[in-house]
Amino acid sequence: MTAQRLTPSLLLLLLVVVAGAGGARWRGEGTTRHLESIIRGRCAEYVARLNPDQRDKNCTALWEAFRMVLLRKDPCSVFPSDYDLFINLSRHSIPRDKSLFWENNHLLVMSYTESGHRLMPLCNVLYGRIGDFLSWCRQENGSGLDYQSCPSSEDCENNAVDSFWRRASMQYSRDSSGVIHVMLNGSEPAGAYPDKGFFADFEIPYFQKDKITRIEVWVMHDIGRPKVDSCGEGSVKTLEDRLRKMGFQYSCINDHPPVKLLQCVDHSTHPDCALKSAAASAQRGVPPLWAEHGASHILLLLVALASAVQM
Ligand SMILES: *[C@@H]1O[C@H](CO)[C@@H](O)[C@H](O)[C@H]1NC(C)=O
Ligand SMILES: *[C@@H]1O[C@H](CO)[C@@H](O)[C@H](O)[C@H]1NC(C)=O
Ligand SMILES: *[C@@H]1O[C@H](CO)[C@@H](O)[C@H](O)[C@H]1NC(C)=O
Ligand SMILES: *[C@@H]1O[C@H](CO)[C@@H](O)[C@H](O)[C@H]1NC(C)=O
Repeated sequence: MTAQRLTPSLLLLLLVVVAGAGGARWRGEGTTRHLESIIRGRCAEYVARLNPDQRDKNCTALWEAFRMVLLRKDPCSVFPSDYDLFINLSRHSIPRDKSLFWENNHLLVMSYTESGHRLMPLCNVLYGRIGDFLSWCRQENGSGLDYQSCPSSEDCENNAVDSFWRRASMQYSRDSSGVIHVMLNGSEPAGAYPDKGFFADFEIPYFQKDKITRIEVWVMHDIGRPKVDSCGEGSVKTLEDRLRKMGFQYSCINDHPPVKLLQCVDHSTHPDCALKSAAASAQRGVPPLWAEHGASHILLLLVALASAVQM
């Protein structure tokens, strides 16, 4: 469209739209468009296709329970317990040894876990799947949803979305058993283990010690980015001390090879992804077998390991 075609009324409309956006009440993203369809659809897909063991879950009842919290509560007075009924209706067991906790690497976690088939992080459990990447809240003094903006944690602690994830995180943690995996981002400037965060505040405290055999932490560094934190250092050391004090068996791996291989898919020409670095890491304690094989064998071994480790 050219400037000449902007009629005065269109200009006025543009001004109104801009002014409206500038006056957004809250700092967070507004309610996701088509929220109801997305939630009903995700639930239906989950029980029909992603995890048919859960086919007896009632997606209508789930949506009703979610909508009740959404519409009955002021956007800044939603508490984790408000989601109790929703969680009660949607919760299901998490396979032993399949839990994966994480901070600051959502997309890497999603691609590694393969819709919950390799490991099952919160976003691949029914209740987590339902809320993943969505935003929602009611209008402050109205009865409809607010599509302009929703409170973020800076606006108020007890907002609809944060309280949902607190409640979901507690449940996920309580229902986790066997080997607990944790994927942290060693390139995050604020530290790999945030001491204020969902993992620190709403997951670790709810671990069921008698059901957990050990905790394995993977500190992943972005390819070609500075290594801010690594196993045994900085904030990872803080985490290690906390878990040891709680009596957990703990181990930590820098750049867990199966996950690193996945990162390297997008950085195949970067020196950190060169196969000689696979050989170098072999010299640092991974079986020397890897170094003796040709390049393609190393790749195949890594792929095999990626699936074998998770069986
Ligand atoms: C599912 O829940 C809805 C709403 O609570 C209810 O009306 C319906 O009968 C339930 N369906 C089944 C199959 O239980
Ligand atoms: C959820 O389930 C727990 C235990 O099964 C029960 O104590 C609690 O009252 C239930 N909460 C709701 C809101 O249904
Ligand atoms: C790790 O953190 C950095 C800095 O916040 C971010 O740019 C990067 O995308 C994160 N890595 C992953 C895999 O999410
Ligand atoms: C909602 O009502 C409260 C109290 O009456 C008022 O302070 C607030 O500004 C109102 N918010 C909106 C968006 O109208």
